[in-house]
Amino acid sequence: MNIEAYTRRRAELARRMGTGVAVIATAPERARNRDTHYPYRHDSYFYYLTGFTEPEAVLVLVAGENPKSLLFCRNKDIEREIWDGYRYGPDAARAAFCFDEAYPIAQLDERLTDLIANQPTLFYAMGADADWDAHMMAALNRVRAQVRAGVHAPGEIRDIYAMLDDMRLIKDSHEVEVMRRAAAISCAAHARAMRATRPGRHEYEIEAELLHEFRRAGSQFPAYGSIVASGPNACVLHYVSNDRRMADGDLLLIDAGCELDGYASDITRTFPVNGVFSGAQRDIYQLVLDAQSAAMTRLVPGASFIDYHDAAVEVLARGMVELGLLPGTYEQVMENESYKRFYMHRTGHWLGMDVHDAGEYKRAANWRKLEDGMVLTVEPGCYVRPAEDVPQAFWNIGVRIEDDVVVRAGGNEILTAAAPKSIADIETLMAGALEAA
Ligand code: GLY
Ligand code: MN
Ligand code: MN
Repeated sequence: MNIEAYTRRRAELARRMGTGVAVIATAPERARNRDTHYPYRHDSYFYYLTGFTEPEAVLVLVAGENPKSLLFCRNKDIEREIWDGYRYGPDAARAAFCFDEAYPIAQLDERLTDLIANQPTLFYAMGADADWDAHMMAALNRVRAQVRAGVHAPGEIRDIYAMLDDMRLIKDSHEVEVMRRAAAISCAAHARAMRATRPGRHEYEIEAELLHEFRRAGSQFPAYGSIVASGPNACVLHYVSNDRRMADGDLLLIDAGCELDGYASDITRTFPVNGVFSGAQRDIYQLVLDAQSAAMTRLVPGASFIDYHDAAVEVLARGMVELGLLPGTYEQVMENESYKRFYMHRTGHWLGMDVHDAGEYKRAANWRKLEDGMVLTVEPGCYVRPAEDVPQAFWNIGVRIEDDVVVRAGGNEILTAAAPKSIADIETLMAGALEAA
């Protein structure tokens, strides 16, 4: 593990805080049903600063001239480790993760009182979790109860997420390296899904191919619920049932990406179940691909976040008019926003530890400017539900094409370029798979 990346981030956070104390907890474990828990996933902010993945852990960062980091975590417990597996315990965790001090989580409340006493500012995730809000207020009140002993309590409480969101928005080299590997696994999974797709198979059989490829390559989880949407389901934006039998002539839209070592990938590919695009499918697919290409050209440092969405919309709206999906002229379609009937979502989002990653999109009223090291998705689409005023050839065609991009001053890096995308590449790959079957 690259411990230096985490100590560097803690030092940077302390620098931005100036003075005061930050308290950042990891995620709680959650019961699914009796005696069964949801698979445990650490909190992204906590992980960003620690690399530590055990539950029941809290980071306390004391800023100032000599910043220090303290970890509170579960004790070693041989009895529990027989049932649940290895846990570091404070001593080993301190050494392995380079904290200045580490203590059992049971000592958090008692030590927190001393740690925040006489500090000007308490930073924590305000309002993110009601229990944690109460916990922090109780700690504050314990300090206030000591005023007669000459202790003063922090006069200011600040939200730590705002500061961390800003840091998380620009990925460091360690993060980009992990995201590159996550993306490579997801690209292989999408290619595998294309090879496995045939009329008559079920969506969930293809989902299983994706999950197999994720896991065999070491990914811990899917980064979000995989969407494997064939035929009319491709027009359901958050389709998750994945249980339909695919028919000859359908398109299959797959939006799936793995999470690797805490980082997400997010890819969508759309392809014909029988391996060959029909005329109408080809028209819509090429339109979305052209929209994506146009959007990509706007991803340069200094551009506003919304520019690439505007570029995609321009191409899509023109295409919708040309194909006869929408009445009127391009100018009218832009004016009355009728393109939103077939393209109703934004063209992308920040990507990182969370699939919809941390970071502001607007500052005051202004869209953020892109900077070197930001990572975002580029995912235009076109979704045509059956309707009397729409040419029947286009009914139930839903297409989205999504890639993950690192914005670079010297030229962007497309993390997901290896997932087949052009009509020719997709048809060639699928023809090969059918021949080999
Ligand atoms: N897979 C979620 C998204 O594309 O935003
Ligand atoms: Mn996305
Ligand atoms: Mn997606």
